[in-house]
Amino acid sequence: MISPQVIEEIRKQADIVEIISSYIDVKKKGNQFVAVCPFHADTNPSLSISRQLQIYKCFSCQAGGNVFTFVQEYERIPFIDAVRKVAEMIGYSSSELDKKERSVPSEVTNALNVVKQANELYQYLLKSNDGKQALDYLLERGISQEMIDYFELGYSSSNPELSIKLLRGKGIEIEQLEKVGILKRSQGLFTDIFTGRVTFPIYNEHSECIGFSSRRIINNDEAKYVNSPNNILFNKSNVLYNYQNAKKEAKREGYLYIVEGFMDVFALYQAGVKSCVAIMGTALTPSHAKMIKKLNVPVRLCLDGDEPGQHAMVRVGEILDVEGIEYQVVDYGKSTQDPDEILQKYGKDILKKLLNRVLDKYDFIYLYYKKKFDLSSSIGRRQFAETLIPQVSKIKDEISRDILINRLSLDTGITKDILNKECAKLVQKPEQKATFNTIQYTPIKKSKKSKLDNIQRATLMMMLSSNEAIKDYQANSNINFVDPLYLEIANYMIDILETQHEFDIGTLISVLQQSNNQRSQTLISTITELQSNEYSQPYSKVAMEDNLMALKREYDKNKNEFKFKNETYGKDYGEQAKILQDYVDSQKGDK
Ligand code: UTP
Ligand code: MN
Repeated sequence: MISPQVIEEIRKQADIVEIISSYIDVKKKGNQFVAVCPFHADTNPSLSISRQLQIYKCFSCQAGGNVFTFVQEYERIPFIDAVRKVAEMIGYSSSELDKKERSVPSEVTNALNVVKQANELYQYLLKSNDGKQALDYLLERGISQEMIDYFELGYSSSNPELSIKLLRGKGIEIEQLEKVGILKRSQGLFTDIFTGRVTFPIYNEHSECIGFSSRRIINNDEAKYVNSPNNILFNKSNVLYNYQNAKKEAKREGYLYIVEGFMDVFALYQAGVKSCVAIMGTALTPSHAKMIKKLNVPVRLCLDGDEPGQHAMVRVGEILDVEGIEYQVVDYGKSTQDPDEILQKYGKDILKKLLNRVLDKYDFIYLYYKKKFDLSSSIGRRQFAETLIPQVSKIKDEISRDILINRLSLDTGITKDILNKECAKLVQKPEQKATFNTIQYTPIKKSKKSKLDNIQRATLMMMLSSNEAIKDYQANSNINFVDPLYLEIANYMIDILETQHEFDIGTLISVLQQSNNQRSQTLISTITELQSNEYSQPYSKVAMEDNLMALKREYDKNKNEFKFKNETYGKDYGEQAKILQDYVDSQKGDK
């Protein structure tokens, strides 16, 4: 358990602008900072970040909160993990935070450290004299110095013992090197399995470097790529190359591209796409799909254009379907190349165009199978229909299904009626519709606000910006907010002012986050919306008194109705009905 004091200290030491900038591109605009909001599909900078208040707010989707909210929602992790994450990012340490680290086996922590050191060494060696040939190899393949740094490409010395010696010089034991799969024993020597190769560090979903792949730099009969063997850190079935970068870019770019190999990731980078992962030449596993799902963007499949690549995409699509991940498929047309070959041959503009030429997944599957059968023979047409019907029957969307049925009917000469009947036979119990788990914020209604609402908002805005205003409100104990939501916020503000002698909006959001429920989300959203309201009036004693008087006048006008609203807030329907009855009775009595 991390104490509220420590949470508060972390929040105060972190700078929201810097933390958000480490995830997405943030630009300075006047004395505010803006960014393209990662919580909804957008291209405009509707997210505004205030360094002074240490909060952010999206004017379009109403997402908002403090530094922890951002990390929590961006990474889709629990609040407490977001606190740890921010602490780690700012280098905050406290024995309270260490508690959990101890529960991660120290064996894993040590192993991570070994791999990290190796990664640094390889990068250093690529820049050394020894690495000249490797560097030339990369540059010749069109991989720039900037990309070498971005992807942390490295080189393990052509002297098979050197890397091991250098790592041992850093105090790392032979056994540790063996454990993470870097070291092999050959003819009495300890050598590095990547010797003489370009290295590509591979990261896990927590952005920790867990191993490497490596490519030979001369055409010989050694394996083209050598990967870390499976070990306590590394397991090929749940690593995706470049996930750590894609994770940061996916929301902004709006898609995640999946390609086959390293060189394709580099090719897409050159065409301006950073949200891209490679499955490293293997099949996509359900663990991969779960990692992909966390990025919460639709996928664009871009495996090779050749037959194995196209076939693999059908299989990958099936796994994505199981996880309910939406996807499209890059349309290679007649080309059988991979993205890297297209880049080399035609340049980045053509590749960029290709990457945006996509087929809807059903069209892709349709065309894929259509090519496989000889539609000039009745056998071929029948087989085509038999292959497609199970696919078509799975489609929930009636329009998509109807389009395919029509098309299949035209291509095979089988009537739509028969095709529909065959489909119906296969339709089992309706599965749950695959839904994208985009965060749903209840947008604050933009409708015309009542006079009462306006005055409440003005009062609360003033209180959010000034401790004095809170004190004025507190001093007028006979005047209260009418809307229970505002009342609750005001009560929180008073609590904070009393306990901490100073009110600060970031603290308020932190306090609310700790009771992580739907209502606290609504409160946070309301607060950040009010805070970022451009009509907010600066505090003055007179202005605040005016607000409070106006609030009282509006309240008195509609007393009974408000009383009913307040009493029913948060109650179930049965209780509400009772209160309503009392209210109606009291109205009768008034007459
Ligand atoms: P490819 O053979 O298509 O390699 O394998 P490539 O990406 O086009 O690489 P270049 O252009 O020849 O350098 C696709 C992916 O399969 C994995 C790698 O991840 C590779 O990028 N692979 C391939 C291996 O792991 N080992 C191998 O020996 C070959
Ligand atoms: Mn290639």
